[in-house]
Amino acid sequence: MVPRLGLREFVCSLLKILRGRPRVPPSLEGNTLLATILDRRSVRSFGNRAIPDDVFAAILEAGRLAPSTVNLQTWSFAVFSAGEWQATFSRPVPFSAARAVIVMGDTHRDKTVLDVFPASPLVEYTVAVMNASLAAMNMNLAAEALGVASVMLSETGRSGFLDAAYLCRALRLPPGVIPLMTIVFGYPRGARPPMPPRLPLEQVAFGAQYCEPDPVAMHDWLAQMIAGYRASHLTSTFEAQLRLYRSKIGQAERDLQMLVFGNGSGAPPGTIQPPGDGPSGSD
Ligand SMILES: Cc1cc2nc3c(=O)[nH]c(=O)nc-3n(C[C@H](O)[C@H](O)[C@H](O)COP(=O)(O)O)c2cc1C
Repeated sequence: MVPRLGLREFVCSLLKILRGRPRVPPSLEGNTLLATILDRRSVRSFGNRAIPDDVFAAILEAGRLAPSTVNLQTWSFAVFSAGEWQATFSRPVPFSAARAVIVMGDTHRDKTVLDVFPASPLVEYTVAVMNASLAAMNMNLAAEALGVASVMLSETGRSGFLDAAYLCRALRLPPGVIPLMTIVFGYPRGARPPMPPRLPLEQVAFGAQYCEPDPVAMHDWLAQMIAGYRASHLTSTFEAQLRLYRSKIGQAERDLQMLVFGNGSGAPPGTIQPPGDGPSGSD
């Protein structure tokens, strides 16, 4: 249950969001890489300007060169122009962005020469997710450094959440290749949004002993999340958004169970049901 905010708490929470700034020691203010990391924002509004091929190639190169467990590089990228996305999924790239990359955890490719994690699907999956997420972040930051904005998405815009089994069929992925997120890229339209509320460092960093969350700090953060969502979505609320996610999570959970662990009937992990709703299927 999401708490309801009174008017005073709503306004105070919005002010806190607007005052939120990265904390940069004055001695490091001129560091451009740090500024790129700290000023990065998820952008959901893009102009028409195309991303030049060399710029997009550099973004992909940043993904390719990300660090990974034992240098296994357990990722794959499905790369799309706006036209290619439209042809594949019969809908525009989310937020009308110029390019898109679907980032996948890939436990299939290395197995053609080396089985590093025999009979340990959870370890294998966790490693693949970790590594692919780092590649995604590398691409996101490289884009930012080149003036290209982006947002990572848990889905493809098809209306699902994760869309894992759907994407396995649409992209004809072999078992062991698991779609994780879509990153859409473009030049931003208009001003960047304010920084969504971050938990204070004291809430997320601790020494040798875990610190239980401070109830006041946690409530403060949740109030900012609720107020910020309300202020930026005229027709929806944070609670409604959570309800929407919850309505889709069951299918996502079933898809992932199947992709990571198999269906218990002897079929290998990653074996999915026969095509029922490929790229041109109904939503
Ligand atoms: C793995 C991942 C999935 C995300 N999925 C979505 C999404 O489906 N839709 C969306 O609008 N934003 C999505 N986001 C963006 C987050 O909402 C955003 O990162 C967060 O609110 C913090 O804002 P910032 O990136 O501007 O700092 C996702 C981010 C990550 C890392």
